[in-house]
Amino acid sequence: MRRGKFITVEGIDGAGKSSHLEFLCARVRAKGHGVLLTREPGGTPIGEQLRKMVLHQPMPAVAEALLMFGARSLHVNDVIEPALEAGTWVICDRFSDSSFAYQCGGRGLDTHVVANLEALVHPALQPDATYLFDVDPATAYERQRKEGRSPDVFEREQVAFFERVREAYLERSRQQLYRFHIIDASGTPEMVRSILAAEFERTFA
Ligand code: TYD
Repeated sequence: MRRGKFITVEGIDGAGKSSHLEFLCARVRAKGHGVLLTREPGGTPIGEQLRKMVLHQPMPAVAEALLMFGARSLHVNDVIEPALEAGTWVICDRFSDSSFAYQCGGRGLDTHVVANLEALVHPALQPDATYLFDVDPATAYERQRKEGRSPDVFEREQVAFFERVREAYLERSRQQLYRFHIIDASGTPEMVRSILAAEFERTFA
């Protein structure tokens, strides 16, 4: 059985990534592979409970990181690895790059802390491809305001926070060029979709 591919989707809040996840799944299926769509924080029953806590209760960055990686440990062991082993492709809405971007870039946690947690929790697993939806934080903020949902602890942050999150994502992408694909997410959903489709086909030609 050929191992499945592990694809992650990242970006600042309001970048619009979530609206393209089903589309990505359809592209994988069109290639003849089974696909599992999952998300972080979350993806397991305990992980979903941790999600509720971490998104709605302000806490120190180190506590945030530990809860994210606690949830991630269960997710990798119980869901992601078994699926990949069985040949299923996994598309994950956020993964450890979010911890580097939000807990380190946004909150100021030392990157060594998150690098150590990453090495502890998934020493042998990295995404085969990461689609980073990149947009300037002012545009993302406007999009979110229009959605009108009640904001979680991250969505309540100011534009300066998301500038730092964005920069941390871009820095990480420069360090791991082989797997990062930067998607210009400033255009209409149709424009973004066609960029994503072309990039996906290039990755998995
Ligand atoms: P998100 O996935 O954007 O969900 P929704 O679209 O329902 O708001 O929200 C999850 C939030 O969690 C997002 O603001 C980023 C944050 N986050 C971290 O800070 N660190 C992490 O490791 C992960 C996975 C997410």
